[in-house]
Amino acid sequence: MKNTQVINFHIKGDERGSLVAIEQLKDIPFEIKRVYYIWGTEKEFLRGKHAHTELEQILICVSGSCKIRLDNGKEKQIVELKDKNQGLFIGQMIWREMFDFSDNCVLVVLASEYYDEKEYIRDYNEFLETIRTGINDSI
Ligand code: TYD
Repeated sequence: MKNTQVINFHIKGDERGSLVAIEQLKDIPFEIKRVYYIWGTEKEFLRGKHAHTELEQILICVSGSCKIRLDNGKEKQIVELKDKNQGLFIGQMIWREMFDFSDNCVLVVLASEYYDEKEYIRDYNEFLETIRTGINDSI
């Protein structure tokens, strides 16, 4: 789906174990202003349910697994994150829902912007309307 991408990070491994390093503007397409992580979400809960007008993010499941439903207003796609070296890039104006969290899931998010509730779209109809009218330049 346009404006989303699964990125496979290079694993530097040896007999001691594995390591992934992520450098801004090299391994991912933006400068990192914020990192947050989510854990302890039970299987029946749905998280996310919003889109961003400005923010770009990379989601990485560093433990366990979860699924992400991506929706650009026209098509939907589900991506399962379960590999520690895999990141899901989500650009602007993509509705996302995270679900099916495994018990041990830790979801790390690298974000291109500081937290700003004003650039969230939390109403699905408003999201569709914004896509339809093309008010946001990124569409
Ligand atoms: P929320 O947006 O509901 O999380 P999710 O997208 O995973 O469903 O955020 C949960 C709470 O945390 C909410 O009160 C906003 C707050 N929050 C911050 O203060 N800073 C942040 O960077 C994020 C992502 C959330």
